[in-house]
Amino acid sequence: MPKLIVVNRSGEEQAVEGDAGLSVMEVIRDNGFDELLALCGGCCSCATCHVYVDPAFAGKLPEISEDENDLLDSSDHRNETSRLSCQLTLNDDLDGLRVTIAPED
Ligand code: FES
Repeated sequence: MPKLIVVNRSGEEQAVEGDAGLSVMEVIRDNGFDELLALCGGCCSCATCHVYVDPAFAGKLPEISEDENDLLDSSDHRNETSRLSCQLTLNDDLDGLRVTIAPED
């Protein structure tokens, strides 16, 4: 099972595991991180699943879609490592991925 390292808004880090094929958002949520609201349930329409992704993994992530890009633009906290975690599917290539939950908008 791929491992995911999640950093919460207080800077605390926790390693969790998730089934390949789940979204990073689902793995974060299923492990009890209530800071990640994921209000739309993963259909790329809310931006409350915003995370910062370790740049070391940038080349392994799927391309950002136009919808995801537009939603991230609506955040005051977007930076060059921003992604919507519901749009990232956990797989073996992403084993050890480190994500930081972005501040609330
Ligand atoms: S959960 Fe709503 S955009 Fe990701």
